[in-house]
Amino acid sequence: MAQEDKKLQELYGKSCAVCHAAGAAGAPKTGVPAEWESRLAKGMDTLVTSVQNGLNAMPPKGMCFDCSAEDYKALIEYMAKPE
Ligand code: HEC
Repeated sequence: MAQEDKKLQELYGKSCAVCHAAGAAGAPKTGVPAEWESRLAKGMDTLVTSVQNGLNAMPPKGMCFDCSAEDYKALIEYMAKPE
């Protein structure tokens, strides 16, 4: 696995996965592109802002306190891909 992917997996595993792996509290589920379609339609910048500020049941920063905007973008792309 490439170094980048490994870092991504780590960030994902300790933060986003807590809710997005199972789709807890209405979170769009990882690996299910249909659940991400309407989200992606808002544009990547909007989605990154949603994570940074929090959205309803999602806490600000999505529990990843050392994630950069680039990290969030990569994480969103990772979660929206088919499993
Ligand atoms: C504590 C649970 C939780 C964690 C941790 C979490 N999320 Fe979420 N996320 C949610 C929920 C719930 C929603 C749906 C919010 C809504 O639309 O009401 C959501 C929605 C989103 C959306 C869609 C935002 C939009 O504008 O529609 C994105 C993108 C997202 N999460 C990315 C992430 C990323 C990236 C991480 C990890 C850094 C993360 N989330 C961590 C619960 C979580």
